Amino acid sequence: MRASRLVITIDGPSGAGKSTLARLLALRLGIPYLDTGALYRTVAAEVIRRRIDIEDDDQLESLCRNLDIRIQWIEDRLLVLSSGRDVSQEIRSERVGQMASCISAKAAVRRALLGLQRQIVAKNGAILEGRDTGTVVAPDAHVKFYLDARAEERGLRRFRELQEQGMDVQLESVIRSMYQRDRQDRERDLAPLRPAPDAVLIDTTDKSIADVMEEMIRHVRKRIHVEV
Ligand code: DC
Repeated sequence: MRASRLVITIDGPSGAGKSTLARLLALRLGIPYLDTGALYRTVAAEVIRRRIDIEDDDQLESLCRNLDIRIQWIEDRLLVLSSGRDVSQEIRSERVGQMASCISAKAAVRRALLGLQRQIVAKNGAILEGRDTGTVVAPDAHVKFYLDARAEERGLRRFRELQEQGMDVQLESVIRSMYQRDRQDRERDLAPLRPAPDAVLIDTTDKSIADVMEEMIRHVRKRIHVEV
């Protein structure tokens, strides 16, 4: 099989190591990587900017009908444009993350982003990273992973990630916000965070990125005949 047609999904809660591993795996396999959370975050940023009432279905529907989100990798930086406006930096804040978790429970939002994600995948295959990529977006993916880690470790990773991005954050509030977001993502009715029945489960606590990467590559080789 040509790697360019591959679809691999990586789901799990925040801080489990999904983004780092998705990026590395995509580089190794030479296929695009889609950070699906960036799409939800972009909708959230628009909701905040336009002061949309998320309990008002008409307002939300109208926003979703007029979305114009474009994403592009420039070397290892993800450029996200919303109606031509660069939101790459803005979407990484905790406030936007929290709002992304709230609006991701809404049917209009999930419907709009589902179509967009499937269009992107249909072009060249992809490594999809998110919460429902193995269960809903690409249920026929060739290989599915579900990454998880102990909550304290996930909180610490998330804290360091935000610090590296130059954000002024407090460990306690990052952990609190992570717990809240995880609960919302797991308990929502639509496409809740959970492993697909055929997903490979990997606990990344106390494991190096390199070790998890090799474990994932082993599974990819086992499931499909591809040179990696
Ligand atoms: O991965 P992230 O932290 O950037 O995602 C932000 C929020 O977007 C997350 O809390 C829930 C939502 N999301 C989703 O519902 N489904 C996805 N496939 C990806 C993200």
